[in-house]
Amino acid sequence: MNKTNTAGIISTGKALPVGKLTNFDLEKIVDTSDEWIKARTGIEERRIITGNETASGLAARAASIALERAGLSPAEIDVIIVATVTPDQTLPSTACLLQDKLGAFNASAFDLVAGCTGFLYGLDVGIRYINSGAARYILLVGVDTLSPIVDWQDRNTCVLFGDGAGAVVLGKLEEGRGVLASKMYSDGSKANLLYVPAGGSTRPATRQSVEERAHYIKMNGQEVFKFAVTVMVDSVQEVLALCGKTAADLDILAPHQANLRIINFACKRLKMQPEQVLVNIHRYGNMSSAAIPVVLDEAVEEGKLKVGHLVGLVSFGAGLTWGAAIAQW
Ligand code: COA
Repeated sequence: MNKTNTAGIISTGKALPVGKLTNFDLEKIVDTSDEWIKARTGIEERRIITGNETASGLAARAASIALERAGLSPAEIDVIIVATVTPDQTLPSTACLLQDKLGAFNASAFDLVAGCTGFLYGLDVGIRYINSGAARYILLVGVDTLSPIVDWQDRNTCVLFGDGAGAVVLGKLEEGRGVLASKMYSDGSKANLLYVPAGGSTRPATRQSVEERAHYIKMNGQEVFKFAVTVMVDSVQEVLALCGKTAADLDILAPHQANLRIINFACKRLKMQPEQVLVNIHRYGNMSSAAIPVVLDEAVEEGKLKVGHLVGLVSFGAGLTWGAAIAQW
């Protein structure tokens, strides 16, 4: 991309469920300990939907904040993209439910499924819509409510995930600002490292599928870990090269929040200082598609992320998928 492509993030917003589940709460549910979870993942607590909280409801709260900060009315949005693996229901899309909740009736609306890389895939698609002239403003939401599809009897997975939503408004920024480069990848041959066996059209819900706990997330944690440490570093370096930069030019890294050890490894390999790397995994666990927009929103609110900063965004997830982007904030 050259310097005239100036689509980027205009504003951010987030919404988190009120329910909190600490490591000490988990000690009462499965055979685990606060010490193990903190040492192996960095997570201390996570938010969990309760009562009538839903993915579309969280998305609407996050989106309303982002729209207000952008100074836009819902009617000015041309496209709504919701990155999620946990839609409210199979049909229709959560994006259509969100459109209705917001009253964004001039928008087309669709869901995008790319595991925990969903938000970055959405960013990649969204900026291309804008740079091509097909849309002026896009609402991109990363939302996941993983708690209903986590197996609360499986200590290998249930300690890792949390629920939340992050939203951004995409539009043209002044020259020099915006997303300078982005690149997404996938490798479907590794689909069985992180998946939900049942509930789709090949294995609809039956008494047997429920008894076999086949509607919950299955994961090969060690293999995903090995994969993640490689792609986190390589993909950032690739997008940096695409816009003629190196890791030394980065002011801030906004990595997917899956495991603090993965984040620390990437930080070390990219020779970044810990204070340059955005981290909130201790409070929320892995919120899948919501992780990056929420950590960005907090960094904006805390004044860590400022206009002019060069920001690296990087993620990986089920698919397997991965990707990175470089933005001049
Ligand atoms: N509490 C206590 N012990 C646990 C545990 C838990 N919650 N979960 C696993 N263990 C145990 C295992 O059973 C194993 O015991 P064993 O040696 O007696 O068999 C031991 O801890 C080590 O397990 P291992 O899987 O080797 O741990 P690890 O250091 O690889 O950490 C993960 C496990 C899941 C934290 C780590 O592999 C990881 O984060 N992987 C990436 C997952 C990810 O990011 N997924 C989302 C992608 S978007």
